[in-house]
This record gives sequence, C-alpha cells and structure tokens, in this order.
Amino acid sequence: MAHISASVYTSHVPAIGATIDMGKTAEPYWQPLFKGYEFSKQWMKDNQPDVIFLVYNDHATAFSLDMIPTFAIGTAAQYTPADEGWGPRPVPMVQGHPELASHIAQSVIQQDFDLTIVNKMDVDHGLTVPLSLMCGQPEAWPCPVIPFAVNVVQYPVPSGQRCFNLGKAIAKAVKSFDANLNVQIWGTGGMSHQLQGPRAGLINKDFDNAFLDQLIADPAALAQKPHIDYVREAGSEGIELVMWLIARGAMSDVNESKAQPHVAHRFYHVPASNTAVGHLILKNA
Ligand code: DHB
Ligand code: FE
Repeated sequence: MAHISASVYTSHVPAIGATIDMGKTAEPYWQPLFKGYEFSKQWMKDNQPDVIFLVYNDHATAFSLDMIPTFAIGTAAQYTPADEGWGPRPVPMVQGHPELASHIAQSVIQQDFDLTIVNKMDVDHGLTVPLSLMCGQPEAWPCPVIPFAVNVVQYPVPSGQRCFNLGKAIAKAVKSFDANLNVQIWGTGGMSHQLQGPRAGLINKDFDNAFLDQLIADPAALAQKPHIDYVREAGSEGIELVMWLIARGAMSDVNESKAQPHVAHRFYHVPASNTAVGHLILKNA
C-alpha cells in the first residue's frame, strides 16, 4: 500500500523564485536564506519520494473572485507554471498523478470533506517556489506532484481544526491506495507577513517560532488556534499557516499514536521580501 514517509513545510515568497531564476542566490541579501535550504536539497536526493502531495494556495491565478473553492485537488496529468504578470517562471512542467489524486478525492469526499475536482489548472509561486527551494533547478521535477489548493485569500477561509482533520483524512486515503508508493506531504505558505494596509511589513518572530515548536510537539492544540489570532499576531497573510496543519495532520503520530516524528531540519530566517521564512522537515518515526 502507499504510505506517507515525511512532511515538509516551507514559505513560498515569489521573490525567492525570481532570485533563483535570475541566478542571484549568492547575493548577500539572499545568501543566508538559500544556505538554510542546502541541507533540504540533499535530503530530497537522499529521501526521494514517488509522489509529493503539495498543499498550497493559489493567489488569484487559477482562481479569482469569480470562483473560490475552499479545497481543490488537482487530478490532471500535468500543470503549467502560471504567468503571474511578468511571464511564467522558467521551471519544468509539473507532472500530476491522476490515479492517486482520484483515489484521494474519492476517499476524502466519502470522509465528508467537500473537495473541488480540478482537471485543468495553472500553478503559481505558491506551488513552484517550494519545489524550487527543495529541488533546485532540475530539467524535470524529481517526481509527480498532486496540487492541493486551499483558499486562504478570500474570507471565509477554513479553520486550523478543519485543516488538521483534513490531513487525517488524506493520510487514511493514501494508506488505502493499492500501490507501494512513498508519498511526502508538503504544507506551504506563511510565516508571519502582511502585504497591505497600515501594518504592511509586519513580522512576528516570537509567534513564528512558537508556531514551529507547537507544530512539532502538539499539533492538536495548535489546530485550535482561531483565525483572529493568526491575523492579529502573524498579519493578514500569516493565515497561510493553516495549510501547514493539513500536512501535520497526515503524520503517523497523529493517526496511529506512534512516536513523534523526527525533526530532520528546522530553519527560520528574516527577511525575505516582506515575509518571515520558516522551514521544517519531519520524518515519520
Ligand atoms: C510575498 C509573500 C507572499 O506569500 C505572497 O504570496 C506574495 C508576496 C512577499 O513577501 O513579497
Ligand atoms: Fe502567499
């Protein structure tokens, strides 16, 4: 059967993608950030999954105010990197995994989560920047990716508790797929940032590091944090962090009361554009 081996968490700042694409990662401003991902790129090579289930948010690229799915699963064979206004990033096409994605859709919908099925979708920096940070600049991404888009852009957005429960349902779905696949689940976006209004530029290191601590040690309690706490403490775009709870809810300590996951890597860095960058790799015990 398929199994989830690890979860990866990372911010997705668009300027990081531009910096990689323009070959400027060694510039003094960016060098400390990319140093924090050197371990991760090697870890990806040493822990190559068969499929990545990538939880991310679309930024009014594939979806707009015309149509706002709360949770959307990509069941397509491939996805094109989006044009976000200055041309599509020069990164490989994203290959999907329609069989596993359809199975997860079937299982998770029968577990009472209403997913939107997406058979055609362009993917923006929310998905491609985490891939670049973890995989570098390959000719092709190392494995198929199932994009899972969460609405954290237009209120009302899903609660942390619902995201955590959804992660549990995804774990159950993966475990019932009849093929020996090594699946990683990634939670992306965050950490503290606010892009507009009087508080634009807000960063909260204390909140971010407490979030990382609790995500590792007590995700069930973290899942109870209300929206208003994210917005107040981590800024309006800090709400992207609820997506990390989907990945964490799929880990085996939550679902089979096994030992806590191993923290393979932890990294935190400010500044990166307007965002605090956080990153974790958790390996199932
Ligand atoms: C920035 C961060 C984001 O999460 C985003 O979607 C767009 C911009 C930033 O820090 O500039
Ligand atoms: Fe974002």
